[in-house]
Amino acid sequence: MRILMTGSSGWLGQTLVPRLRQDGHRVFGLDPVPSAMTDIVGSIADRDTVRRVVGDNGIEAIIHAGALHKPHIATRTPTDFVAVNVQGTLNLLEEAVAPGSTVGRFVMTSTTSLMISREVRAGRDGGAREAAWMTENAAPLQPRNIYGVTKYAAENLCRLHHELYGLAVVVLRTGRFFPEEDDMAHAISQSDENTKANELLFRRATVEDMAEAHVAALARAPELRFDNFIIAPRTPFARADCAELIADAPAVVRRYFPEYPAIYARLGWTMFQSIDRVYDSTRAYERMGFACRTGFAEKLAALGQ
Ligand SMILES: NC(=O)c1ccc[n+]([C@@H]2O[C@H](COP(=O)([O-])OP(=O)(O)OC[C@H]3O[C@@H](n4cnc5c(N)ncnc54)[C@H](O)[C@@H]3O)[C@@H](O)[C@H]2O)c1
Repeated sequence: MRILMTGSSGWLGQTLVPRLRQDGHRVFGLDPVPSAMTDIVGSIADRDTVRRVVGDNGIEAIIHAGALHKPHIATRTPTDFVAVNVQGTLNLLEEAVAPGSTVGRFVMTSTTSLMISREVRAGRDGGAREAAWMTENAAPLQPRNIYGVTKYAAENLCRLHHELYGLAVVVLRTGRFFPEEDDMAHAISQSDENTKANELLFRRATVEDMAEAHVAALARAPELRFDNFIIAPRTPFARADCAELIADAPAVVRRYFPEYPAIYARLGWTMFQSIDRVYDSTRAYERMGFACRTGFAEKLAALGQ
């Protein structure tokens, strides 16, 4: 397939572009930042660029990962967020359904972050009595920052273009997969690897798994027509664990992974005392046949060797 991938110079793009090329696809990378994965240096906010790239290259599928996201909240204005995440997405969708377009499928990289309200984020310290069990049906959505608000708007534009024009669209609400250290690691005196291992329990996946989720969505888009999936490792937890996850997460983790305390003790690692949300990726498994390969169990097995 001839695929346009936006955000090709980014962290996901570096893994996903070669992965798609390995499958024999012709990938056209579009990003304002030059890199080996990017063929067209430009912005999705520039309608002429989008029109040219989609029209001139016989694009059949768009994977839309280009965005301003959480790290940019401190450095970019809300207007920039709207220009890139909302208008940029609209530009791509409108060119995808324009007369003569050859685009038949569209995969949008969204974020689980748009499901997290201030209340959920405040967790136990904010008075939560149980962890929030998050599915795609979580409602009402009250994103807590401009990143979430603009991603939610972009998701809605995708839905609308499916409804109005029949474009096959799959939205992937991905959990975190960034490689940088999180501020939280310092706040709770944990090493970065310790923090990331803990997060595999409920909110993080590897970039390789995220790339595979996009490959699956691209393949299944024509049958799915429109769908929205949380992408995170299959959770080991049950809804009945939610109260205890907030109050005493290590006790819950010990029940499912009795070997974890010894492995963690040997490494000098600690578990989070409280887990505030669980992302349930059952729908992606049931409807798209996708499951992450690496979760906490696999990490623990590797650490235990
Ligand atoms: N990294 C995470 O943990 C995480 C979590 C949830 C969702 N996501 C989403 O995944 C996608 C990819 O994230 P990433 O981690 O690779 O981020 P990244 O910042 O490494 O990559 C994003 C890319 O988008 C590009 N971009 C910015 N403005 C653009 C524009 N106007 N036109 C075209 N491209 C533009 C950037 O230059 C960058 O290369 C984003 O949509 C992000 O919202 C990421």
